[in-house]
Amino acid sequence: MKLTPFHLHLEELHKQFLELKDGNVADYIPELAKVNPDHFGIVIVTVDGHVYQVGDSRVEFSIQSISKAFTYGIALEDNDLETVESKVDVEPSGEAFNSISLEPDTGRPRNPMINAGAIATSGLVAGNTGEEKINRILEVFEKYTGRKLNVDLQIYESEKTTGHRNRAISHLLRNYDILNGDPEEVLDVYFRQCSINVTCRDLALMGATLANDGVNPITGIRALDSKKIPNVLGVMASCGMYDYSGNWIYRVGMPAKSGVGGGIVAVLPGQLGLAVFSPRLDEKGNSVRGLAVCETVSQTFDLHMLHSTRTTTSSTIRRNYDGSIVRSKILRDGPAQEILDQYGHGIRVLDLAGDMQFVSAELVMHEIMAREKLPTHVILNFKHVSSINHAAVQQLCDLAVTLHNEGCQLIFIEIPKSFGLTSKFKSMLSDESFWPQMGFDDIDHALESCENDILESYDWESSIINQKGQPSSQPILSDMTTEELAFISSLMESKVFEENEIICKEGEPADKVFFVEEGQVSVWVNIIVSVSKKKKKRINVVGEGFAFSEGALLGAESRIADIIADQKSIISWFETGKLFDNDSAIALNIQKKLYKNLAIQTFHKLELSNKEIKSLMQ
Ligand code: DON
Repeated sequence: MKLTPFHLHLEELHKQFLELKDGNVADYIPELAKVNPDHFGIVIVTVDGHVYQVGDSRVEFSIQSISKAFTYGIALEDNDLETVESKVDVEPSGEAFNSISLEPDTGRPRNPMINAGAIATSGLVAGNTGEEKINRILEVFEKYTGRKLNVDLQIYESEKTTGHRNRAISHLLRNYDILNGDPEEVLDVYFRQCSINVTCRDLALMGATLANDGVNPITGIRALDSKKIPNVLGVMASCGMYDYSGNWIYRVGMPAKSGVGGGIVAVLPGQLGLAVFSPRLDEKGNSVRGLAVCETVSQTFDLHMLHSTRTTTSSTIRRNYDGSIVRSKILRDGPAQEILDQYGHGIRVLDLAGDMQFVSAELVMHEIMAREKLPTHVILNFKHVSSINHAAVQQLCDLAVTLHNEGCQLIFIEIPKSFGLTSKFKSMLSDESFWPQMGFDDIDHALESCENDILESYDWESSIINQKGQPSSQPILSDMTTEELAFISSLMESKVFEENEIICKEGEPADKVFFVEEGQVSVWVNIIVSVSKKKKKRINVVGEGFAFSEGALLGAESRIADIIADQKSIISWFETGKLFDNDSAIALNIQKKLYKNLAIQTFHKLELSNKEIKSLMQ
């Protein structure tokens, strides 16, 4: 695959900072001093799972303090918020990572990013033993990275034997009951978690998972509950770089976490994860090249999160039309068409697109509610929506309640299964009577249902009187004399088809014209979705009193579609050959009228299609 300009940019950046050799590798944990100081990797992973990596992107190194942010997320999932906040605050300390910054009266560490707060957080991970806790941490970390991880035992032993300050902190925390039980056991969990080996690519993917609302953008696995994302990113933004956090949010502008192993991970919510690996550290314990690269990337590509561009609400509504313009595929008689011409505008259809957030849902709500007359039906099509956040779902719940109370039927169609919208509605809107209808396969079925509601509310009855076994007053047979109808009847055959029974198949000779005397049939075509995948698409619905396969009158060779009975139906037909081979005057007159009626029907269908095309062009 050709390298994109963005990739080339990163390669340039890597080359530029290769010469930056300021700083020293950490040596207060002896094993860390053995790392190659010249290692240097840069990786960016987008929320679409696109990976851009240069340099030492797959060299393993010790995660160290970067683990704190992800373990904090686990603690938030394993405990209620009140418990976590009672054990660790979320205030930046403005002090070094190993400072003993505890609240004077409660002994609560200032935040979960400094060692004291991190040790308290490790103690909050679910598990009856240290082993269970570290296994839970590894299990969750592996959801972020999408691969097996391990604790580097040399680094663990090295930290365990020299970690006297952390040992003192853990006993101090025990003294304040921030830790319960044996502080040594929790400290051991903390040392193991810091000694987990990761690569620069892993870190960028972990960052991208946080950016992607907690879902790994490559594997699709959820690593963290969506509701905990703001908590984790919040402490990363305010405390992640310790006593450089102020400068960091000013110069780089992304939630981040550094580690003395030489890693930095930064998160641009909704967009990407950025990671740098370069072991030389400054006096605050942050990677020198890491800081320089992140600042340059942020400024070069305008990634500062507080410089967010306007949310693209303009693309939220990709199509906006009503039921008088676009109809369902079911053929309807003249009176029904007139009712729908007059009242179909009460059906409002919005095709939605993009990532739905608060403002996009607000735009949808405004588009519906700001009308002079509220619609009778609203269909929201989610086919092109790529994500929907909590705030947008809340807006849609409020819309559902309002429309229900106004007697307006709300319908959702083509909801991507990954949204879990039904379960989200259940959790936010307990009264099911407010829920929108979500059972239609596609827009056509939803439109048909709305049209039927309208026709029913205007007491429309099929104006076509059916005489079983006789050609009824079908539009294609209008203007026929009694003798002509009797002549056609003499050519007719009839059969009862059961629900889902195939009436005729694609590829068969097109030598018959069919009439639905009773019931309903659908016309299905096979659509090629990919080389190996086909999908059936309903292109027409023919109700009683209408004909289908009129193409046989125009010399069509073979059928282009399957015709299947939607319900038990009485179907009549005549073979076109029996009419065309008959050169009597009555047969010729019938042919002329059939062609005229067919031309009128086709013109009406063309008129409707033109209205739909016009709405597409708006
Ligand atoms: O507890 C320690 O000191 C190390 N395990 C982690 C310190 C660290 O990574 C600080 N971050 N820059």
